[in-house]
Amino acid sequence: MDYLSEALRAMERDGLKRALRPLTPLGPTRALFNGRELTLFCTNNYLGLTHHPLVVKKAREALETYGAGSGAARLVSGHTPLHEALEEAIARFKGCARALVFPSGYMANIAAISALAGRGDVVFCDRLCHASLLDGCRLSGAKIVRFRHNDPTSLRELLARHPGHRRLLVTEGVFSMDGDTAPLAELHALAEEFSLGLVVDDAHGTAVLGPGGKGTTAAQGVPPQGLVLTGTLSKALGSLGGFIAGDTVLVDYVINRARPFLFTTALPPASAAAALAALEVVEGRPEILNLLWENIDRMHRGLAAAGFAGAKTSPIMPLVLGSPERALRVAERMLDRGYCVPAIRPPSVPQGTARLRITVSAAHTGEEIDGFLTALNEAMEGER
Ligand SMILES: Cc1ncc(COP(=O)(O)O)c(C=O)c1O
Repeated sequence: MDYLSEALRAMERDGLKRALRPLTPLGPTRALFNGRELTLFCTNNYLGLTHHPLVVKKAREALETYGAGSGAARLVSGHTPLHEALEEAIARFKGCARALVFPSGYMANIAAISALAGRGDVVFCDRLCHASLLDGCRLSGAKIVRFRHNDPTSLRELLARHPGHRRLLVTEGVFSMDGDTAPLAELHALAEEFSLGLVVDDAHGTAVLGPGGKGTTAAQGVPPQGLVLTGTLSKALGSLGGFIAGDTVLVDYVINRARPFLFTTALPPASAAAALAALEVVEGRPEILNLLWENIDRMHRGLAAAGFAGAKTSPIMPLVLGSPERALRVAERMLDRGYCVPAIRPPSVPQGTARLRITVSAAHTGEEIDGFLTALNEAMEGER
């Protein structure tokens, strides 16, 4: 097994080795690390719902009533009334006929794509799509064609060159590492013109963008009918799990065909209850979204004033620094100043685009954001 240590040494040398860091959460935006309190500007907890009293209460009640685990796959005995209620709530929220939940967003994506495409088919996937989407394409056995990021013209050219039995178009609503949004209306029009199935992973747009947080498709006026919408319960909704939402026939087909659905234990009831409560909060108190967008605006203005401007389209604001070493250096200086915003390096992002992925939550205070901006200015000294 010498090759393992050799590979790890090479990663260390290139600034690409990862190591786990135990953080003890103190709330949605704060944690203890090595006895020091840190403010987090790196989570996907965009609404701070991990610690919302109703979310915690409902999860605790489910834990006591249903137990810690589901005990079996959904089609065996792991399907509870909570799963059913959660799926109904997601379908309603997304304006779809049905929804199906999974133990993670990663699994929802690999399930959707591997069920819908197979050998002889072609999957057209945005170049910056998340690993789970790409892994779904690989698992499907279909030919994978990557088009230029958010570029319908590149997609159109490739569509002409790659005929196939069935063809699928895969993109994200909000891109996870760049925070920009896909041109969904144009992609949807292309999908209609060429009879492609359209998969939109709205992991970072759900409960963030659009009216009432209904997502990037709703924000751009793209109707959900006929789409394959995927997403996660682990980001703005503060729990764990993923989902596919769409037409009845799609969900029925996935239930019968998707191996990542069939051959795994159901999402724990407490996670389902937490996600259900989180949706209740978002639907019942949509003003929580205003808090998030006020904070996005504050962070964006501060970054722009310091010369670090980026798009203000989501809570994700990347500060691209180039080399892994440079990103690690700035992240370490931020840690010294009490802010957790780890360096994101290849293969999570393309070569030469290592970055700080700054994320904002509705739970941040204005003072926390201002403190972060001051620290960032100091940490970037000599790096501009
Ligand atoms: C775009 C995107 N899709 C899917 C996932 C996977 O979701 P989960 O963490 O629930 O597995 C992520 C999470 O990192 C993501 O960023």
